[in-house]
Amino acid sequence: MAGEVLAGREGDEKRGPRSTIERPYSGYYARVNGGDGVGKTTLIKRAEAYAQAHDLPLITVREPGGTPTGNSIRDILLHDRSVHLSPEAEVALFSADRRITCDTVSLPWLQQNGIVLGDRGFEANVAYQGAGGEIDIEKVIAVSEAIMPRWYIYPDAMINLYISEEERIRRLYSSLAATGEKADKIEQRAAEYHARVAKIQHYIAERFGGIMINAECSPDEVFEQAKPYLFGPFLAA
Ligand SMILES: Nc1ncnc2c1ncn2[C@@H]1O[C@H](COP(=O)(O)OP(=O)(O)OP(=O)(O)O)[C@@H](O)[C@H]1O
Ligand SMILES: [Mg+2]
Repeated sequence: MAGEVLAGREGDEKRGPRSTIERPYSGYYARVNGGDGVGKTTLIKRAEAYAQAHDLPLITVREPGGTPTGNSIRDILLHDRSVHLSPEAEVALFSADRRITCDTVSLPWLQQNGIVLGDRGFEANVAYQGAGGEIDIEKVIAVSEAIMPRWYIYPDAMINLYISEEERIRRLYSSLAATGEKADKIEQRAAEYHARVAKIQHYIAERFGGIMINAECSPDEVFEQAKPYLFGPFLAA
C-alpha cells in the first residue's frame, strides 16, 4: 500500500502539510513515529545509508536522548526502576529533553541547511502519555506548545509506521532477544496500555498532518514508501 497522506495540502506532499508554519531554517526536518518495535530504527538506518550514498547532510536524533543530558533523562524515563513517574511527570521530562535537543542539536544543523531525522517526537507523548496514560491529550498538546517552537512540534514531515499488535509484539520481543536487552519501563506496560497507544495513531496522523505507512511489508518497501517524506526537497534525483 502506498503511503497515505492524511490532512495534507494538495501538491505539498513532499514538504509536508505543516509548511505554512514559519521555519527559521533552510534545511529539512522529518521524523518517524510508531509503537515500540514497529520498525522505526530499521527505517532510520536505511535513511542513513541512503544519505551516505547520495552525500546528503543527514543527522538523526532520538527521543528521548538526543544529547548527553538527554541520555540522563532517558535513563530516568525508561530504565530507573526506583522512580515511578506519573504520565504528567513523563510529559515534562520528555518535553525538557526535546527542547534541549532542539536548541543544541537540531536547530543549529537545520540552519546550516542540514536534514534532521527524528526517532520519535511530540506525537509519541500524545499517544503514550495521552492515550496510554489516560491524560487529556489537549493538555499534552498545550504543554508541548508552551515549551517547544511550533516548527519543532510540527516538522516538515511526520511519518507514522503501523503494524498489527501481534506483529509489533513479535518484532519487539525478537529484537530484545537478539540484543539481550530487557523491555524498558514503558515497553513492559500492560497490553491494554499499548492497545490504547496503537488505537490513537491514525487520529494523531490525521490531526497533525502526518502520513501513515503500513510497515507490515519488507524494510526495503517501507523505505521506498517513506523516502519522499524522509528527504523532501533533498531527495536525490
Ligand atoms: N519491515 C520489517 N519486516 C520485518 N521485520 C522488521 C521490519 N522492520 C523492522 N523489523 C524487525 O523488527 C524489530 C524491531 O525493529 P526496530 O528496532 O527497527 O523497531 P523500533 O520501532 O525502532 O523499536 P523501538 O521502539 O523499540 O526502538 C527488529 O528485529 C527489526 O529487524
Ligand atoms: Mg528504535
